[in-house]
Amino acid sequence: MAKRAHSLTITGVAAQGSDAILLSLEVEAGQLQSFRFQSGQYLTLAVSVQGNEFWRCYSITSEPVEGQPISVLVRRVAGGCVSNWLCDHARPGQPLKALPPAGRFTLARPGQPALLYAGGSGIAPIFALIREALAQGAARVRLFYANRDRASAMLLAELEALHSGACGRLQIEYWYDAEQGLPSPAVLAAQTQGLEHADAYLCGPEPFMRAINAGLQVAGFDPLRVHQEDFGAAGGQQTEEEAEPDGEAAQLTVQIKGETHTVPVNAGEVLLAGMLRAGLPAPHACQAGECASCMCRLLTGEVQRLESSALDDDDAAEGWLLACRTRAVSATLRVRFP
Ligand code: FES
Repeated sequence: MAKRAHSLTITGVAAQGSDAILLSLEVEAGQLQSFRFQSGQYLTLAVSVQGNEFWRCYSITSEPVEGQPISVLVRRVAGGCVSNWLCDHARPGQPLKALPPAGRFTLARPGQPALLYAGGSGIAPIFALIREALAQGAARVRLFYANRDRASAMLLAELEALHSGACGRLQIEYWYDAEQGLPSPAVLAAQTQGLEHADAYLCGPEPFMRAINAGLQVAGFDPLRVHQEDFGAAGGQQTEEEAEPDGEAAQLTVQIKGETHTVPVNAGEVLLAGMLRAGLPAPHACQAGECASCMCRLLTGEVQRLESSALDDDDAAEGWLLACRTRAVSATLRVRFP
């Protein structure tokens, strides 16, 4: 089940806004099959910092055209070891470890009208979906794109190029919090006008997503046509922010290598974090739900599984979980590594 990491070569590093880069990676002939992707998917990249390997997911912005470099958008995250390393040190010619593309945030009905909301670097998968929707013949595509300020907005030239080539099919509303304040549910709801039967796609920080969902509800938008990429907690554009401290701390009992240990897991943190802090030899690699190295079985207790591409519903039904993509729900739980 574990995916094999490949080495890709960086072919381009272009500044995007004031605190991000567009990183382009070459896929060699022997890797083409592994690196086929659909618009809206992401790559998982590894960076070694002070001897430790860290993996993070970044949405693909390039077109799914075989033989062309794959580009991802990387924005600095305060204290984020991978994003800052890439923004400071990535140079053309360097090799970079990558897992094959993954993710389910793709067009539900290609060619149909689409209403898209992007907040900050959430524009990366949304941009890819816009281009795909237009290429597939969508008659109307509308983007609401919110940023902190103009300086930090990304992919502006690329969006304008799409806009001018779309023959009136693409409408874009830019929103800058520093000038306009946070968009209200009424503003977000107003975007649905004329697109009541479209599919909606959302990607951005958690409060932004909550506000859009509230706006769509106000507008009476069918929730079944709302698709969202969980920007922080789930797969896709994984940020390097701290876990949200919601819920209660738990006691986790781990059976591993013939021994049993009980360790605390903090509220909102994934099980693997508690295991590693306690020094348990829990197998792991990507820490992003991609490689399946940290698979273990839930014996007792209740958990919240965050989205991942490495396990499917059948695996979950059999009790498997990924320690790096699972949080405790019950106060006590027990897992066993194979
Ligand atoms: S460490 Fe890779 S899936 Fe958990």
